[in-house]
Amino acid sequence: MKNIIYYFTATGNSLVCAKNLAKYLDGETELRAAANYLEAEEITVEPCDTLGFVFPVYGERAPWPVYHLAARLKLSGQPYVFGIATCNDRGGSCLDFFASWLKKHGIEMNYTRKITMPGNCMATNEAENAERIADCDMFCHRSADNINSRFQSTVEGFDAPENTEEGQRERFPKIFVFKSDPDKCVSCGLCAQVCPMKNITMTDGHPVYGSTCASCMACFHWCPAEAVYIDSKFFNNGRSRYHHPDVSADEIAAQQKRF
Ligand SMILES: Cc1cc2nc3c(=O)[nH]c(=O)nc-3n(C[C@H](O)[C@H](O)[C@H](O)COP(=O)(O)O)c2cc1C
Repeated sequence: MKNIIYYFTATGNSLVCAKNLAKYLDGETELRAAANYLEAEEITVEPCDTLGFVFPVYGERAPWPVYHLAARLKLSGQPYVFGIATCNDRGGSCLDFFASWLKKHGIEMNYTRKITMPGNCMATNEAENAERIADCDMFCHRSADNINSRFQSTVEGFDAPENTEEGQRERFPKIFVFKSDPDKCVSCGLCAQVCPMKNITMTDGHPVYGSTCASCMACFHWCPAEAVYIDSKFFNNGRSRYHHPDVSADEIAAQQKRF
């Protein structure tokens, strides 16, 4: 069995899920960072038995780089396809919307599941976070068992006019503007390194944001000086910084490599 999982992650929850799935899926599993394919017009996927997408929920949708990737995949044959979305308990119809997007691009979703993890946007309390992190392995194991047995989920396939790469791309930058406080910034450049979108450049020792933000919040959470903040009336900048305890900044930065 050959399995390919495309993942997107900012604070590591989705990467840990992807790794757990790889541990429990039958056969060999290759993890590929969705952000690595941003410049590709067409992505030819070699024959595989299982194709998976693992990503965080952003406002009941997948992150736009995942929409971007999915629209460009050229599959050979018909692998079994699954989508696992990590969320802070209100993932809503994210995977139904994503299944619709896949269908428009000729890919049928077979299995979906949401896994509740610590929230990296709205804060969740520490005790709950620890429980969610501890339970993640079990939920991934169950999902992998379902995938191994080729279980067929009921996928509603919701759609909406804004259920597009562009729709999701335009949505969050309108409400979340990332900034760095020059008095706190220590010019380490970690924000630029962990940005999966390569959207941050260091100019005169300070981050400058470009136009391909995915609103993933990696820069906010990984900044060692807590200099990055979000200019938004919806967001509490006083919340604690978070990243999954088993994931390093290097692993987040690895998403920046481009083929
Ligand atoms: C911009 C943004 C929007 C989010 N929207 C939702 C949401 O609508 N529902 C939800 O349950 N979690 C939401 N979250 C929380 C993340 O989906 C969740 O914490 C996820 O596990 C983070 O994954 P990662 O560590 O792989 O980046 C949002 C996070 C961000 C950054």
